[in-house]
Amino acid sequence: MNQKTTDQTQQTVRVALEARSYDIEIAAGLLARAGDFIKPLLKRPHVAIVTDNHVAKHHLATLQDGLKAMGIASTTTIIPAGENSKSFGRLEQLCGWLLDEKIERDDCIIALGGGVIGDLTGFAAAIVRRGARFIQIPTTLLAQVDSSIGGKTAINAAQGKNLIGAFFQPELVLVDTQVLTTLPARELRAGYAEVVKYGALGNVAFFDWLEENGADVLAGDAAAQTYAIAESCRLKAQIVARDERENGERALLNLGHTFGHAFEALTGYSNTLLHGEAVALGMVLAFELSLARGHCPAEDAARLRALLDAATLPVTMTRIGNGNFDADALVAAMSQDKKVKSGKMRFVLTEALGRSFLTDTVSRDDLRDFLIAQGALDKGAQNKAGAAREGSRQ
Ligand code: GLY
Repeated sequence: MNQKTTDQTQQTVRVALEARSYDIEIAAGLLARAGDFIKPLLKRPHVAIVTDNHVAKHHLATLQDGLKAMGIASTTTIIPAGENSKSFGRLEQLCGWLLDEKIERDDCIIALGGGVIGDLTGFAAAIVRRGARFIQIPTTLLAQVDSSIGGKTAINAAQGKNLIGAFFQPELVLVDTQVLTTLPARELRAGYAEVVKYGALGNVAFFDWLEENGADVLAGDAAAQTYAIAESCRLKAQIVARDERENGERALLNLGHTFGHAFEALTGYSNTLLHGEAVALGMVLAFELSLARGHCPAEDAARLRALLDAATLPVTMTRIGNGNFDADALVAAMSQDKKVKSGKMRFVLTEALGRSFLTDTVSRDDLRDFLIAQGALDKGAQNKAGAAREGSRQ
């Protein structure tokens, strides 16, 4: 690993939001020391912990013991792991539990888990007693570099994912790289796609570093992970500080997401394609579309593809499921995206590695042609040809 550009120990990243500012602390072994960071925030030595059954098995006792050692009492609820927990039913249950436990506005609620736990707990904290305080302890790489930072909290609706929620910032984010040792390798790689995203969208020096050291991040090297997470958080923190409510620049963090969400929707948000994997493919397509439109050098698109490919992330749609995606179905899914404004699809495209921009100038026809060139099926044309053959036989 390149020693010159990495810090072996703890890193602190500040999210500067005036009265709502907070720190992200990153290091190996922080979970056991959580009480050191949490105690100064508390008005009374009592917290509520929300976690899921998978995370509880590996990490709950370490957190509880660490808090106890600092004289902090805790009460815990364990909810079922998985996206289904981001529901009204589970939110109601969680709020009821917090009230039963007499959690007050000044108390801290700790979200110990991945994106589902963070999003659900953050939203519950935002609404219970009109807002309690909360702390994120993310346990997946994806949550450590993205969903635990910046205050987006939500549950899902029948109409789509994350459609009901609030911007509500945590008081502290504690990132322990050691918890990644219990994360399945596929989930670590999926989270790594979001790490690559930061290099690709806004920090080419970090992208260069990942080309040299990305394998160490994936192999579990604590110093490499600490540095990669801190660099990711630094860029996200800067963007969130400038545009907390996504009126502009924050949308750049959605690089690869418009394409990615369409593939997730067409594979039923299932295990066939994890969110980070969809983002990997989506970023490759965003760079290819930028290249096709003359914005971005071919070399940069090739470098992005190679970095993601080296992590065995999907870089072509043919690697996902049976590889058959209908171009019209993809365009239709993209037209449903949350980022559509005044009926226009918005894409994050790029001028080069580290230099992304937003545009709403990609037409549906251009998008369709592009997707077919990238390997999507032209079922519309195939159906017409089939009908014509039938007609000529009659
Ligand atoms: N995950 C994108 C954002 O937080 O804005």
